Amino acid sequence: MEIIICENYEEVSQKAAQIMLNVIKDKENAVIGLATGSTPIGLYQNLIKDHQDHQTSYESVITFNLDEYVNLPKEHPESYYSFMHTNLLNHININEENVHIPSGLGEDIQANCNAYEESLNAYEMDIQLLGVGRNGHIGFNEPGTSFDSVTHVVDLDEKTIQDNARFFEGNMDLVPKKAITMGIASIMRAKKILLVANGTNKADAIYELVKGEISTSCPVTVLRDHPCVYVVIDKDAASRL
Ligand code: F6R
Repeated sequence: MEIIICENYEEVSQKAAQIMLNVIKDKENAVIGLATGSTPIGLYQNLIKDHQDHQTSYESVITFNLDEYVNLPKEHPESYYSFMHTNLLNHININEENVHIPSGLGEDIQANCNAYEESLNAYEMDIQLLGVGRNGHIGFNEPGTSFDSVTHVVDLDEKTIQDNARFFEGNMDLVPKKAITMGIASIMRAKKILLVANGTNKADAIYELVKGEISTSCPVTVLRDHPCVYVVIDKDAASRL
């Protein structure tokens, strides 16, 4: 595990974007795993700027997103489908047919999970981007999730609902209570993993990742068993190391 401690969020976003770009420039049809949440927004801005300044092409790049809320229409501004289009996909020359975001809509969500896992299995993921929840979740794999899990439906943890209320008028009642997420085993199959975090509210999760016991009670600790992980964090997230 390579830990890169940065001065601030801007530097986290630049360094992490560089790691992602190395993969994208190295292989025309790179398969990249994307994340939502506040943390990757700066990284995505750096990718957009690089695309504008250097014309890095995404024409053959294939993307898979980690997760999506259940029963939130795609057009809802807080759906992860909307988030990805607003913050990255609408600004690069990606082919929409190469974009994969789990669907949390329809009668049979388990069938959506199975179909998503099947599409994931058809590719070898070159790099998976991750944020981390303050309870150590990766994707929406909340504490207690089996390390063998594949794409599945989850009940969101109380802490996660509280944290995500800021995107829903600060109202926990408006936050969807279920989501569909890649499992921990699905994530661990990626050749490389890039985890970004900033702020003191992530310091405990980062401490567990680096120094804690590998345990399902803090899902991010599973990354210690992965052969190629980059952890790009600011000083505040690194404050307990
Ligand atoms: C998002 C995701 C989540 C977030 C995590 C941190 O696709 O899977 O695990 O990465 O909740 O979110 P932020 O970056 O908003 O602190």
